[in-house]
Amino acid sequence: MASPNPAEGWISCRRILWFLAIAAGFGAGLAGCHRAPPLTPQEAEGKHLYSVRCAHCHEDNDLALKKVPPDLHDVFSRTALPSGAPATDPDVKRIILSGKGMMPSFAGRFSDDQMNDLLAYLHTGLR
Ligand code: HEC
Repeated sequence: MASPNPAEGWISCRRILWFLAIAAGFGAGLAGCHRAPPLTPQEAEGKHLYSVRCAHCHEDNDLALKKVPPDLHDVFSRTALPSGAPATDPDVKRIILSGKGMMPSFAGRFSDDQMNDLLAYLHTGLR
């Protein structure tokens, strides 16, 4: 009986390493996709509403308000809003509807669907 060829063992080991490297690359690619899945139609609609109704203040402060409108990118990844109110859907809806300080009220400006679209987009962290 011939003993197993050590060179062959080395080659198949390299094959396995190749396979692992490719699999790891593929896995990393998938993980990358997972981090930023495309916006759902609802989130995309919310993004549009945010960009026409909110961004000019919250990103550009185009009215040069003394109280700079807070950055909303991570509004739902924290437990509290900048004012200290809980960062929950009902609280954010209430603020959008009633306004706050220099922020105008949007009462009657959004349908229920539009409000839900907007909140869905705020939940994405404003991608
Ligand atoms: C005219 C400018 C302006 C517009 C338009 C505007 N905001 Fe604001 N927003 C502000 C200002 C100023 C504050 C800070 C209010 C304060 O704490 O006195 C604020 C605060 C907030 C807060 C944090 C409230 C808290 O309790 O800390 C949220 C959430 C928010 N805005 C969401 C929105 C959304 C969503 C829109 C679009 C529908 C929007 N805002 C449109 C100016 C604006």
